[in-house]
Amino acid sequence: MAAIDAPATALLSVSNIEVAYGRSAPALRGVSLRLREGEVVSLLGANGAGKTTLIRSISGLLKLHSAKVLSGQVNLDGARIDGVAAHHIARKGLSQVPEGRMIFANLTVAEHLQIGALSAPVEKHEMSRRLVLDLFPALRPRIDDQAGWLSGGEQQMVAIGRALMASPRLMLLDEVSLGLAPIITRSIFEQLDRYRRETGCAMLVVEQNAKLALDFCDRAYVLDRGRILLEGSAADLKADPRVQDLYLGEAPGEGSAYTFRDAKRYRRRTRWLK
Ligand SMILES: Nc1ncnc2c1ncn2[C@@H]1O[C@H](COP(=O)(O)OP(=O)(O)OP(=O)(O)O)[C@@H](O)[C@H]1O
Ligand SMILES: [Mg+2]
Repeated sequence: MAAIDAPATALLSVSNIEVAYGRSAPALRGVSLRLREGEVVSLLGANGAGKTTLIRSISGLLKLHSAKVLSGQVNLDGARIDGVAAHHIARKGLSQVPEGRMIFANLTVAEHLQIGALSAPVEKHEMSRRLVLDLFPALRPRIDDQAGWLSGGEQQMVAIGRALMASPRLMLLDEVSLGLAPIITRSIFEQLDRYRRETGCAMLVVEQNAKLALDFCDRAYVLDRGRILLEGSAADLKADPRVQDLYLGEAPGEGSAYTFRDAKRYRRRTRWLK
């Protein structure tokens, strides 16, 4: 596997953090990660591996969940941000599309976009709004509708649009594809790719669909029970037999015959995947 050649001046640098919820055993145990300006990095791992906890450690939302960084540090542009309030971190150019979308059913699409723009200068708002509606034209006719009436895919577009309104330099996306039809997911990722090419915005993407994630990103990390298990370029990880076996193989029933070996392999996969 290729060595990671992230320079000392990484946009984001997570160094050896240990994070725990209340008095529970640590959910992250010495996790380190780096992300360069404009880079797209994926975070893979089974349910409970600590992906969302790592995202919260970066965005400053740990406190909301009674958790904190016990040791190690998180730096954005060389400045320490662990322990800093989420709204201050947002002003530094970091936006989050949270797990579960966190859409307010009673607010309109336009109001969600206004909330997202709060951390950006007023003169940028109109341009950002045009950009969001250009990326997601399905939102145009729904702009004054309450978000609770939208489809799951449209709600995810609202969650991403809200994050984009801040003109971020770094976006954290937590399971954008969850519960969406594959065709909607594909179209959303195409638009994210377009946004990335047009703006150079860096992205840290948590994704259960490993193939989608590895097709989209430059580099990836695999988290397993609170530790980084693997890291490397998307190409290296796609070629890694462990990733192929546990993430990119066929599920039982998709092949011709379902053997005992398949069952064992599937059980191992699901320990990571589900
Ligand atoms: N609010 C919370 N309070 C207490 N423990 C939590 C909380 N959120 C997560 N945990 C625990 O921290 C560990 C990591 O959870 P986390 O949600 O970060 O995993 P994940 O990789 O995002 O999983 P998933 O794929 O299911 O979203 C798990 O053991 C989980 O039970
Ligand atoms: Mg999660």
